[in-house]
Amino acid sequence: MTSVVYIPGDGIGPSIVDATMRIIEASGAKIDWIEAEAGLGAFEKHGEPMPDATLEKIRRTRLALKGPLTTPVGTGFRSVNVAMRREFDLYINLRPTKSFEGVRSRFKDIDIVLFRENTEGLYSGLERYVDEEKTIAESIAVVTRPHSERIVRAAYEYAVKHDRKKVTIVHKANILKYTSGMFLEVGREVARNYPQIESDDKIVDNMAMQMVIKPEQFDVIVTTNLFGDILSDLASGLVGGLGLAPGANIGDDVAVFEAVHGSAPDIAGKNLANPAAILLAGTMLLRHIGEMERADRIDKALADVLRDGTRVTRDLNPESGVGTTEMRDAIIELL
Ligand SMILES: NC(=O)c1ccc[n+]([C@@H]2O[C@H](COP(=O)([O-])OP(=O)(O)OC[C@H]3O[C@@H](n4cnc5c(N)ncnc54)[C@H](O)[C@@H]3O)[C@@H](O)[C@H]2O)c1
Repeated sequence: MTSVVYIPGDGIGPSIVDATMRIIEASGAKIDWIEAEAGLGAFEKHGEPMPDATLEKIRRTRLALKGPLTTPVGTGFRSVNVAMRREFDLYINLRPTKSFEGVRSRFKDIDIVLFRENTEGLYSGLERYVDEEKTIAESIAVVTRPHSERIVRAAYEYAVKHDRKKVTIVHKANILKYTSGMFLEVGREVARNYPQIESDDKIVDNMAMQMVIKPEQFDVIVTTNLFGDILSDLASGLVGGLGLAPGANIGDDVAVFEAVHGSAPDIAGKNLANPAAILLAGTMLLRHIGEMERADRIDKALADVLRDGTRVTRDLNPESGVGTTEMRDAIIELL
């Protein structure tokens, strides 16, 4: 039995996390679920959006399924995601993007996995006004050789393990000669150790255009923090939006799985939330702990429900009249 922390989160979080746990249970996977709090609810109750008790539980189980969290604007609320990344050195942000039959989208046959460096670059927090009048602001991007190396290596190791054919390193080395230049240099060095994988590199602006014109050409992508942030959302848009986009934050010790979308306060408590993105995060978690067969079965059941299109939430089929619990049950029936 594997222990996993679950964080229901805010807004639609509790309903989609509950649906995911029930579906995983129906697959036969034996998980000891340990509840923990984070987000706005935790902040209102404990004065902390990420209480120490939650961090302690994650430290113990080393695995978490996290519902979306509401971040109030304009308060002293620290970002929970940033806090977790720092605490557990979750240096890989893994974002798979896959087409599903039956889901309206611009492209078919897309299967891209993006590795975003999660700890440095322009997200190092080194940002300030230079003058008192606040007419000049600066932000310092810190890129290090070891952190570049470990994210590129993670992408290639993933490619080998999952029988992927190609890794594309994305950069802006023509302009950012040191930060992005070093990332590209290190990336090419790492690539030489994987002759069985095709390697390619692209400048980020060209990459954005290529992803929109011909996304099928991409397989595994690896890039720095800011470029990865933008390109991973672009990738979700190619296959029908954030409702189907899972993500994982992974370090050497701890892994946290989540949906990419937020807490959707506009539809919270109405049984309207699509559970697919967090369910896909749940099957990433199952694969992470070696439960490949059960993960495959759940993914297939979800794909069948999406293809059929009658028992999916309204964001996917406005005429379905179906809510979170019905979509959940449709998936469970197929299991
Ligand atoms: N990982 C996270 O915890 C995370 C990520 C993004 C935003 N947020 C937070 O979530 C809150 C709301 O943010 P937002 O409104 O910008 O983005 P959002 O993703 O919550 O919602 C954007 C739109 O998509 C819809 N939507 C989102 N998820 C859906 C689902 N599963 N099923 C059906 N419809 C869905 C919403 O109803 C809304 O119309 C904010 O406080 C934000 O900070 C958290």
